[in-house]
Amino acid sequence: MPKNLVQKILDSHVASGTPKAGEPVELVIDQTLTQDATGTMAYIQLEAMGVDQVKTELSVSYVDHNTLQSGYMNADDHAYLQSVAAKHGVLFSRPGNGICHQVHLERFAKPGRTLIGSDSHTPTAGAMASIAMGAGGLDVAKAMAGLTYRITYPEVVNVRLEGELPHGVSSKDIILELLRRLSVKGGVGRIFEYTGPGVKNLSVYQRATITNMGAELGATTSIFPSDETTRAFLARQQREEDYMPMEADPDADYDETVVINLSGLQPLAACPHSPDNVKPVSELAGMKVDQVSIGSCTNSGFEDLMKAANVLKGKTVAPNVSLTVSPGSRQVLTKLIENGALATFVQAGARILECTCGPCIGMGQSPKTDGVSLRTFNRNFYGRSGTLSAGVYLVSPETAAASAVAGVFTDPSTVDYSDAIPAEPSYVDDSMICQPSDDPESVEIIRGPNIKPLPENTPLAAHIEKKAVIKLPDNITTDHIAPAGAEVLPYRSNIEKLSTFVFRNNKEGFADVCQANDGGFIVAGENYGQGSSREHAAMAPMYLGIKAVMAKSFARIHKANLINFGIIPLTFGNPADYDDIDEMDVLAIEDTTQAATGKVSVKNVTKGTEYVMDCDITDDDFVLLQHGGALNFIKNSQPL
Ligand code: F3S
Repeated sequence: MPKNLVQKILDSHVASGTPKAGEPVELVIDQTLTQDATGTMAYIQLEAMGVDQVKTELSVSYVDHNTLQSGYMNADDHAYLQSVAAKHGVLFSRPGNGICHQVHLERFAKPGRTLIGSDSHTPTAGAMASIAMGAGGLDVAKAMAGLTYRITYPEVVNVRLEGELPHGVSSKDIILELLRRLSVKGGVGRIFEYTGPGVKNLSVYQRATITNMGAELGATTSIFPSDETTRAFLARQQREEDYMPMEADPDADYDETVVINLSGLQPLAACPHSPDNVKPVSELAGMKVDQVSIGSCTNSGFEDLMKAANVLKGKTVAPNVSLTVSPGSRQVLTKLIENGALATFVQAGARILECTCGPCIGMGQSPKTDGVSLRTFNRNFYGRSGTLSAGVYLVSPETAAASAVAGVFTDPSTVDYSDAIPAEPSYVDDSMICQPSDDPESVEIIRGPNIKPLPENTPLAAHIEKKAVIKLPDNITTDHIAPAGAEVLPYRSNIEKLSTFVFRNNKEGFADVCQANDGGFIVAGENYGQGSSREHAAMAPMYLGIKAVMAKSFARIHKANLINFGIIPLTFGNPADYDDIDEMDVLAIEDTTQAATGKVSVKNVTKGTEYVMDCDITDDDFVLLQHGGALNFIKNSQPL
């Protein structure tokens, strides 16, 4: 049977289960990555499992999110992460070395490997023909402990690329076009495999922009074949030995095929407040712009920044615009210094930020009140920038740079600049990547006051009666549940404090309501928990006593996180039942063991009505729920 590329890699990693779309399979994981905002909890969980040395081929801990050190908290986290990595056999990428996905692509990703990371944009490494998936920190900790990772075997969508990108149009516009067509729910349960004659016209950086933002489709991951372009990229990274050609067999089957003609694309922008709210830049042309930010794991590679530099060369940023540039890694920054592009940015008036996530995670550079901010990032959810009234538009580096110069939204295909990118030098610098200790027993783990013990959950009660403490609309993101931003992020290893911020933009005093009512249930619409992989969006509600989330549908990673933390994910069998529930209604799950059967009856005690809800979980998931979450289960099982 001919196989597509996804099947080839997945099938060689299936430890158990039937490799058939919709069926659960357990996968062997070769590599893991963590970043600091989710990593502290992942390593606290790894320690709780009693694991001495990680069992993966490669595990890397990156510090790229909470790099602002205005108090002791982030510095405490960094010191903990560095010491725990040294002790347990994990590589440690120091703060400022680069954004996890950019550095991983440059230094570690390999064709044919499986990678999970406690960051939802881990699929970036799909540009290197890895099956790379975002996961909750606990799942990453389990993989480091040598346990398998369960996914639902996905449908595979063939995205066939034809033609070549015209002047002013970039790979960002390819993924924005797909988001325009398929929406933020269009990828759920699917992997997008890119094929066709257009693939060879895209560099690894361009492919990485697409695989990175495939996360916004809700996809399990995205992947490109490994070809001569991949080989040349690896050779420039001085690791050509990692190259292995990989592509689908001729006549391989796909569940669906989508064709995109690159030659027919135009510059696009995702408008506030969703990555699928996509319009042509030409329709937005002339709108005044206040801020332009170039960088993030989506568009901060050598080629992205060189394209922006080409547009900015010899120009000055408009007086009404603040332009920031965050290179994706020190390697990229060094190349820009050496070829003069950094001088181009500085001379154009750009503010150069460190090689980290920065404004993408709300670490500085919040736009002004009611500001219009053009960003080359991947998310523009309400409030993520730190300014609730700001409108964030997601664009390509070319659109960003052209608009920064003009001071208004500008279609770069109408601007004259050079498309020629200078050859990328072969330059490697791993000096800020610390190797694990040769003598792990002697390493003391540094636990400052910001490193708090894990919150614990109780086993599942037989009968749960609680209030619907919040009722939410469709597309609630993990940014809504556990917000980001400089004020909140330093508490990622302090769940008690972090829980006071839960739903702060949806319902003031949510934590107090939970406390006053001894926890409760969350009621939500479609696609609950989309966005970032942060398990804090399950852990903090668990801490507040949330026992179940009743939603029209769930985002994949968040649903897994809920189960990992002992919260029952229920979906409305009849969506009209959602309308029947009002906030603060008393709801009762009469018999929680019904969760194992797939159907759960829920009484609305206030209204005197009853609903049958779906509980789409496996037998193993139910066991985790019974224990009050995966960590309790692991701790109660044999030591690893
Ligand atoms: Fe960082 Fe933003 Fe990517 S927070 S990992 S640059 S989505």
